[in-house]
Amino acid sequence: MTEPIRSLDARYYTDPEIFQLESAGLLSSTWQFGCHASQLSEKGSYASFEIAGESLFAVRGRDDQIRVFYNVCQHRAHQLVNGTGKSSVLVCPYHAWTYELSGELRSGPNIKAVEGFDKSSICLTEVRSEEFLGFIFVNLDPEAAPMDDWFPNARQELSEWVPNWAELEPLEWIEIPENCNWKVSVENYSECYHCTLNHPTFASGVVKPETYDIQPQGKCLRHTTECQNLENMTYDIHSGFQHFDEYSSWFLWPMFSFQVYPGNVLNTYHWRAIDTDRVVVFRGWYSVGGVEDKKIRQLAVQDRETTVEEDIHLVESVQRGLNSKGYRPGPLVIDKSGGVNSEHPVMHLQRWMRQAIDGQYKR
Ligand code: FES
Ligand SMILES: [Fe+2]
Repeated sequence: MTEPIRSLDARYYTDPEIFQLESAGLLSSTWQFGCHASQLSEKGSYASFEIAGESLFAVRGRDDQIRVFYNVCQHRAHQLVNGTGKSSVLVCPYHAWTYELSGELRSGPNIKAVEGFDKSSICLTEVRSEEFLGFIFVNLDPEAAPMDDWFPNARQELSEWVPNWAELEPLEWIEIPENCNWKVSVENYSECYHCTLNHPTFASGVVKPETYDIQPQGKCLRHTTECQNLENMTYDIHSGFQHFDEYSSWFLWPMFSFQVYPGNVLNTYHWRAIDTDRVVVFRGWYSVGGVEDKKIRQLAVQDRETTVEEDIHLVESVQRGLNSKGYRPGPLVIDKSGGVNSEHPVMHLQRWMRQAIDGQYKR
């Protein structure tokens, strides 16, 4: 008799030492969402963001290339830029050292007075980055494999499901703070075993739970389902594109997900881990040119008031439970034939979570 696979030990979600190890390891060596290319529409536009405790910024160069740098001056470490903006060069606010948009040091007050000062040896530290359907992803590991190796076929499939992706811009990113470990939130997102009981609107108005399935595709978890009552949808789904009558989503390990709703409506989730028991989830909604769109706003409101609200209570209760002395990790419900009532995607996630800190953490 084989033993059932048990859920991850509670300490993985409650021990600050594990969170430290994840920040230094996992979160610094995986592809993380930084910003949207439309925030960098002109030469010299920049946007800053934080990944794994590091301040970074993306900037569009004179050559139209988007580059991502650590947000730190190479003189005496002042932060270079703040928020978003546009500038023809990057001037440090401390002593006005000035960098090209491509990162090379261009000038600095009185640097010529320094004997042996080799200007050409000074450059901002660049970070691996990739544009993925208009989304800028970064990886702090210079040796990281490209996103297409991590998430095979996802780029191709998404460009079929969202053929107008190049015209889309963010309409809003709704910020949802959750009092739980980021892994609790990501696991909850990655199974629909809880959907029928907890998400009546989603389960009866959007998807057909009995057809829901999630399967790994490299380090992507691909969600597919048939849709419920397409004729009763609250908005017009006839986009003129293929796949208009489908729902699909691509979760890119560890903290980003592209979802496509019927009518080829792109929306996203991204997570920012704050500490052991706090995470912020961002629900992103997009429209052509980022212009006001009633249909999208209405979907965003419905989603915020139903699925998102319902999930907050679930994940926060789980986090409290993980801190209970009375909890022993239970068996995951894994059905070999997959399907909505199987937690096999959680098994994959927990395997990846364990691998990420294996060998570094012994207790
Ligand atoms: S720290 Fe940036 S110019 Fe001195
Ligand atoms: Fe949920």
